[in-house]
Amino acid sequence: MEAATGVRTQPLKGSFGIEISGLDVTKASREEIGQVIRAVNANGVVVVRDQQLSPRQQVDFTRLFGAPADNPRKEYVLPGQPDIFVISNKIVDGRRIGDADAGTGWHFDMSYDRRPGLCTILYALEVPPEGSNTLFSDLCAAWNALPPGRQAELRDLRIHHSYVSLAQMKGNVLTQHQRDTLPDVFHPMVRRHPIDGRLALRPCYGGTNGVVGMENPAGLDLLKDLVAYVTEDRFVYSHKWRQGDLVIWDNNCTLHRGTPFDKEKYIRLIHRTWVQSPPEHYAA
Ligand SMILES: [Fe+2]
Repeated sequence: MEAATGVRTQPLKGSFGIEISGLDVTKASREEIGQVIRAVNANGVVVVRDQQLSPRQQVDFTRLFGAPADNPRKEYVLPGQPDIFVISNKIVDGRRIGDADAGTGWHFDMSYDRRPGLCTILYALEVPPEGSNTLFSDLCAAWNALPPGRQAELRDLRIHHSYVSLAQMKGNVLTQHQRDTLPDVFHPMVRRHPIDGRLALRPCYGGTNGVVGMENPAGLDLLKDLVAYVTEDRFVYSHKWRQGDLVIWDNNCTLHRGTPFDKEKYIRLIHRTWVQSPPEHYAA
């Protein structure tokens, strides 16, 4: 991203990830917003520091990337603003206001959907002073580091994703509507980026039933091994949250997961929005 007046950028981990400071996304010019979007596409993860966003402003910002996705779990959407899902251990009037344990295993968002998440946007209102980092893995770097022979073995595999399996893993009870609207789907192990065509090795373990054409446990073992590979330290950026962080990532080329924190001692409050991939990104 080219620096505009007062806007500073710095890499997070080599070519993976960009931090932007000195930019207020609610007052940014079209050109500056365009640069943020291009940075997400090119660098996988963008951290914009020191934002002050109302829920409405976060949704408006989200719409610059595409149409917000519907969240299948309605119990923790923000009242009055259903495009925002609340991640929090906070209890207000005796009720937990958000999902306290969102995303603790490596995954990409909406993997169970025919059109998974294009990008995800988290805005941090309250963060613990320790713990609760979010980890991101660079799936293009992981793919590029494989020898050509291994790439050829993996190139045409497809993963069987299942919302039912995901819900079972998390202990969530599915509604009939969720069962009806989220049938099993099959996504390629190697994802071609819809903007620039670069390849990403995008395995997933949680919420999957294996690999098409492979018996289990071999298929699930392969997925587990590949997730371990793409999340080796050399491919991972660990984000330590600051209040006011606005973090945007591209689910085409990253996996992510949350890490624990002391929920008895600290409060975390994060507002999440999802952008669903447009139909042309997942054409058959
Ligand atoms: Fe997630």
